[in-house]
This record gives sequence, C-alpha cells and structure tokens, in this order.
Amino acid sequence: MNELKPGIIIGCDHAALTLKEIVKTHLIRQAGYEVEDVGVHDESSVNYPDYGIKVAASVSEHRFDRGILLCGTGLGMSMVANRFAHVRAALCNDLFSAAMSRRHNDANILVMGGRVIGDVLAIEIVNTWLNTAFEGGRHQTRLDQFDNINP
Ligand code: RB5
Repeated sequence: MNELKPGIIIGCDHAALTLKEIVKTHLIRQAGYEVEDVGVHDESSVNYPDYGIKVAASVSEHRFDRGILLCGTGLGMSMVANRFAHVRAALCNDLFSAAMSRRHNDANILVMGGRVIGDVLAIEIVNTWLNTAFEGGRHQTRLDQFDNINP
C-alpha cells in the first residue's frame, strides 16, 4: 500500500463547494494526501467564517501543517484565517502568487476563489503550492517579526 503524505484540512462555503470537491478529489486520488473535510457539503447558504475558523484553528494549533480554504473570492476566508496565531494564509488565484507564497512567506493555508478561477488552474495552483519549498534565511527573519506585532 502507498504511504499517505501528511494530512491537509480543507473547508469552503457554498460559493466554492464545487471547486472544493474537485480539489479534494485531486488531493486524495492524484496527489496521495489524507484530507480532513470540514464542509460545507451542500450549497445551502452559510457564513464563511464558521468554516474558515475550523480550518485556521486546526492549523494554528498544529493539528494540521497545511490547510486549504475556498470561498467565492477567497477574500473573506483569508481575512478570517489570518486572525489566528501561526497562520499565514495566502490568497492565490494565480500560479506566481502560489509559488511565492511558499518561497517567501511559508504560507500554511492556501486560499482560492471559486468564483474567480477555473478548476484546471486551481489544481495547478494546489500542486505548485504543495510542492514549492520555503527558502528561509532573510524570509524567516521577516516572518519572525510577525510574532512581535502588538497593535
Ligand atoms: C458568499 O456570497 C461570498 O461573500 C463569499 O463566498 C466570499 O466571497 C467572501 O469573501
């Protein structure tokens, strides 16, 4: 039996259910990840923070190293997720941002907009994001500054 890679926690609102199912299927069948799906599971209208909080809290508390969040634009989910300690959520609706969010920002939650991008691009973004390493060095110094922000 193939060894599964570490788990990814995924969540979405009603505006991105279709894309979430496509991404989840890709993660399990093609990329070989275990996936924890916190919903939604149907297109009834919901409040996106409820699902963003579930994923971001799990990453913040180190229950999962990586998470994926999807809503209509990706904006609301990224705003919610970045309220949590140790979360670096990156809204990436293009491949360059996906690569750079890993190389320079060590993003641990990928956010995409189900009403912004198509499924083929989304899968490419996911693959790029999962397979691009953090460069560390001066970028780690900058991330360390996040922990000293006391607004
Ligand atoms: C839902 O209509 C929409 O507001 C939500 O999916 C998201 O785009 C919010 O940022």
